[in-house]
Amino acid sequence: MATDVQQEQIVKEAIGQINHIATLPEITLKIIELVEDPSSTAQDLHKLISIDPALCSRVLKVVNSSFYGLPGQIAAINRAIVMLGLNAVKNIAIAASLAKLFRGGQITPYFAARDLWDHSIGCATATKLLAEKLGFGLTDEAFLAGLIHDIGMMVEMQYDRNKLIDVLDKVKPDSEGMPTGNMLEAEEEIFGVSHEVFGSALCERWKFPKTLTSVTRFHHTPEEAPEEHRTMVYLVHVGDRIAADHGCGFRLDLPDTKISPAAFDKLGLTPQKLDEIREEFPAMLENMSDLLG
Ligand SMILES: [Fe+2]
Ligand SMILES: [Fe+2]
Repeated sequence: MATDVQQEQIVKEAIGQINHIATLPEITLKIIELVEDPSSTAQDLHKLISIDPALCSRVLKVVNSSFYGLPGQIAAINRAIVMLGLNAVKNIAIAASLAKLFRGGQITPYFAARDLWDHSIGCATATKLLAEKLGFGLTDEAFLAGLIHDIGMMVEMQYDRNKLIDVLDKVKPDSEGMPTGNMLEAEEEIFGVSHEVFGSALCERWKFPKTLTSVTRFHHTPEEAPEEHRTMVYLVHVGDRIAADHGCGFRLDLPDTKISPAAFDKLGLTPQKLDEIREEFPAMLENMSDLLG
């Protein structure tokens, strides 16, 4: 296994090399910066988004979807910002620009960026539903957290696709679609680090909020996440499993989809609530896939 110093070197090299490919559009980075600045106003954000008409129309499409359940149609961005707040509009802009990154062909019979995107939308939808049903609020941050949790695999694909093919060969699905090996161990053996480490480095590079960096870093071991981010990490951890059980896209990094007693405990989740969420999930997923798919 790679030492800490070696790991750091590998991550630095990977993120450096993919820099020209996996960048968020400049406007998205500017939006993140602007919203993080406490002196920014709704007008500043309106001005910035107005530069990009495609982004404007995508934001309005999401605002007017059942995702927010607002009464009546909203035709203008400034109105959307007033109704939803800067932070929500920021998250919509990020989600809309992420879709573009998950492109690329079928690299093995069991992996295509598209399958990972389907999985990410599934996890995002389930995580949002969990946050909503369990009364945590922050539902669009939850959605975004679900959307980016496995983004480290896109780093792997763009950094060295042959290594990713070797990893996937070690975990290829059995006849039921279950992995035949442990993906995180295979990544550590072949790349030197896992998709969790690659993903969190990318989030740092993008200056994403720290919660999202923790989500990518610890979604397979939520108990190890920093205390202040642990709830969100657990939400994604459970959302990941709900999406996998439903059969949304890629799921070979999960040896099983059991939800631990610690997760039930931490989130105040009950088997009844979980059943309700699983029941509401397909309709909401269809909606989200239409918007972002
Ligand atoms: Fe993962
Ligand atoms: Fe996942």
